[in-house]
Amino acid sequence: MKAVVYHKYGPPDVLQIKEVAKPTPTDDEILIKVHAVSVNRSDWESLIGKPLYARVGGLLKPRRPILGSDVAGRVEMAGRNITQFQPGDELFGEIPGYHGGFAQYVCAPEKTLARKPAGMTFEEAAAIPQAGVIALQGILNKGQVQPGQKVLINGAGGGAGTFAVQLAKLYGAEVTGVDNTGKLDFMRSLGADHVIDYTREDFTKNGKQYDLILDVIAHRSVFAYRRALKPNGTYFLVGGSVATLFQILLLGPWIRRTTSKKIRLLAVQPNRKDLVSITELCEAGKIVPVIDKRYPLSEVPEALRYLGEGRAKGKVIITVDHI
Ligand SMILES: NC(=O)c1ccc[n+]([C@@H]2O[C@H](COP(=O)([O-])OP(=O)(O)OC[C@H]3O[C@@H](n4cnc5c(N)ncnc54)[C@H](OP(=O)(O)O)[C@@H]3O)[C@@H](O)[C@H]2O)c1
Repeated sequence: MKAVVYHKYGPPDVLQIKEVAKPTPTDDEILIKVHAVSVNRSDWESLIGKPLYARVGGLLKPRRPILGSDVAGRVEMAGRNITQFQPGDELFGEIPGYHGGFAQYVCAPEKTLARKPAGMTFEEAAAIPQAGVIALQGILNKGQVQPGQKVLINGAGGGAGTFAVQLAKLYGAEVTGVDNTGKLDFMRSLGADHVIDYTREDFTKNGKQYDLILDVIAHRSVFAYRRALKPNGTYFLVGGSVATLFQILLLGPWIRRTTSKKIRLLAVQPNRKDLVSITELCEAGKIVPVIDKRYPLSEVPEALRYLGEGRAKGKVIITVDHI
């Protein structure tokens, strides 16, 4: 099969499209014929090896040669212990460990996969898993957003951010989106009530405070986030610098004990239930998976470059053909 592989951390030029062996599913796995796969910042981070957490399992060189986690396709073969799917079924979901999707076939366990809704294209379905579930868990399940609350989403113009803005609006929050100059109108079009250009304004220094902050690209000190929270407010780090992550791990519990503010990591758990919940909102037209660009499998390096250079508004999708 064709796959996009890499053997060292670096820019998109280290990726090569190659013929490799088609994977064989274990008893607990499904072999998926991939029709579409989306590009996430986690792919970019695992490509360049930064932040340092992207090197878990492979400090000096990547542990797994194929990136890509959010796939949509058909069941080609089901392992003996698979109960929910059979060959020919259309499915989608996130592959645990963020690997294997930039290929014509990939194996995955069934617990993070769901049936693709008939009215949804493979591309639309592939846009949802990681970004949609981050938003669902950050804004609803753990964020517990309430009508009228002030919610800030840092990185609102990217994959997870576009879902988070729409979800927070749907649940009645007053939403502020933060991203670069080129994405301000885009964030407004998603429903953001206020937008902040991070190249001109630091949302932690403008005197405003929020009930809930979802930060997909954190790099400030924990004290800056404390300042930006209202009493009883919650800040979630989804992704960002290792320095900020460690500060939150070390000082977050102390801030929680000494103030009413909660500063913590959002450890996202991919699972079928949440994937289905966010997808139902998409099917009902309440949330739109926003696809910015589509690329063929051979252009995964360009797709990753587009995302890494910060130009993507919403999701970037790879369409995989089998000709
Ligand atoms: N916690 C968990 O369990 C978990 C699970 C899965 C994934 N993750 C992480 O979640 C994150 C998800 O990101 P994503 O896929 O939504 O990324 P994305 O699509 O790249 O979106 C990130 C957005 O942030 C913007 N941005 C860059 N620098 C910024 C800054 N200083 N201030 C505000 N916005 C900024 C980017 O725009 P420009 O670059 O154009 O400026 C982009 O629009 C990744 O870091 C991933 O590793 C976490």
